[in-house]
Amino acid sequence: MSDQVIIFDTTLRDGEQALSASLSVREKLQIALALDRLGVDVMEAGFPVSSPGDFESVKTIAQNLKHAIPCGLSRAVEGDIDACAQSLSVAERFRIHTFISTSTIHVEQKLKRSFDQVLEMGTKAVQYARKFTDDVEFSCEDAGRTPIDNLCRMVEAAIKAGATTVNIPDTVGYTIPSEFGGIIQTLYNKVPNIDQAVISVHCHNDLGLAVANSTAAVLHGARQIECTINGIGERAGNCSLEEVAMILNTRKDLFNVTTNINTKEIYHTSRLVSQLCNMPVQPNKAIVGANAFSHSSGIHQDGMLKAKNTYEIITPESIGKSTNDLNMTSRSGRHVIKHRMGVLGYTEDDYDLSELYASFVKLADRKGQVFDYDLEALLYFNQQQMDKQHYQLSYLAAVSGTDETATSGVKLKVGDEIISGSALGNGPVDATYRAILSILDLDVEVVDYAIGAKTGGEDAQAQTDIVVKYKGKKYRGMGLSTDIVEASAQALIHVLNLTYRADQIELQKQAKQNEQSSK
Ligand code: KIV
Ligand code: ZN
Repeated sequence: MSDQVIIFDTTLRDGEQALSASLSVREKLQIALALDRLGVDVMEAGFPVSSPGDFESVKTIAQNLKHAIPCGLSRAVEGDIDACAQSLSVAERFRIHTFISTSTIHVEQKLKRSFDQVLEMGTKAVQYARKFTDDVEFSCEDAGRTPIDNLCRMVEAAIKAGATTVNIPDTVGYTIPSEFGGIIQTLYNKVPNIDQAVISVHCHNDLGLAVANSTAAVLHGARQIECTINGIGERAGNCSLEEVAMILNTRKDLFNVTTNINTKEIYHTSRLVSQLCNMPVQPNKAIVGANAFSHSSGIHQDGMLKAKNTYEIITPESIGKSTNDLNMTSRSGRHVIKHRMGVLGYTEDDYDLSELYASFVKLADRKGQVFDYDLEALLYFNQQQMDKQHYQLSYLAAVSGTDETATSGVKLKVGDEIISGSALGNGPVDATYRAILSILDLDVEVVDYAIGAKTGGEDAQAQTDIVVKYKGKKYRGMGLSTDIVEASAQALIHVLNLTYRADQIELQKQAKQNEQSSK
């Protein structure tokens, strides 16, 4: 058996499907490139049949990966498999991942079929997918609750039909490590052709056991782990990539396996995913939490000063976490910014130095000292602004007080025109939102609003994240400023630009359809 565990990343599929609003194609590509640098072996980039946006992002990612094998998800039906093949065939090598439920609960209540029918659908799907690629993965959804004899039959049939990887998901996170390891062991004992495929696991975290179950499976012969950065995913999430990678690395003595993960890219990738997905990482999260390397108790600090290995089993440097937050001020030159970005793991392809430097100087003038985390925040914000903006905020003045009704006056640049408006509101943010929306007369509903200190200290930058509903779809926007009302206004302007772009795309589509029907 190979001593290499394949890391199959599903941040952009299982992880992304659980977000409150979808990522844009550019955001997905940014994450995909970071995952590629991290060293994941297979990257599930999306579910191409699910929407034109997903199709487009899978295709874009497949075109741009340098190392990882791109993969798309499909149900066990031909239309889904066709969409996978069409979006992925831009790459030299690709994987089609097809799945069907095998547990009695799912087969009878969700699919309303017999197990034998499901077995036939699964095998046919694998055979069909093999027409497009010789890298086909088959998943037995809800395998953790599937009667073991049925699971053995399904795995054997899928391998016979041509599956090169067979995945055993604990879809609802129900099993415990000894039980899940036992399922993998039984497959190895009972399925006669098991040596012809890689056995994979895909564990959800409903009982907090996704990582423990995945690593138990490795001890029993599984050689692919499906996981996501920061453990994001459906409900309580998926198995966390950074945790399994560091477990296999740190406890090599026990597992005797390797992965292709470049652990020094872990911290940067985790920050990027957290930021773009608007999913904060809990401070005490293993490996990437803010406190993962902080020692508070006097006894621990004393031990650390005498010998680090008294209380530290992995180092911050091993995951690429810099312990040196170099202070930068408005007197710092461009080379300092470039150097710090390099230390944080960014290459020059990731950002425009002139643009970043210009926003850095502005922030340094307002804030005095700028830290690494400020630079990262600026980078993300600049990228949000990169596309040509139809709406721009050119002036904002909001007034509020304990005995006063808040008022806000705004000027917006709309195309080439400047339009102003003002409104009263329940606080300065509400007044500003009313003023902006009264100018534009758009039917936009703000369904989620969150504000947090993006960076440290009293002079921190505020980050506002909002989700709006527009024409039945959700859009997510982000604003960043040392002023919370301005950050909130920027988030709304960001989201309005997204809705504007969506309207433009729709108009172009309709024009094309009209042109075709008039021919
Ligand atoms: O959780 C699950 O079972 C899945 C499958 C599609 C692999 O995500
Ligand atoms: Zn899943």
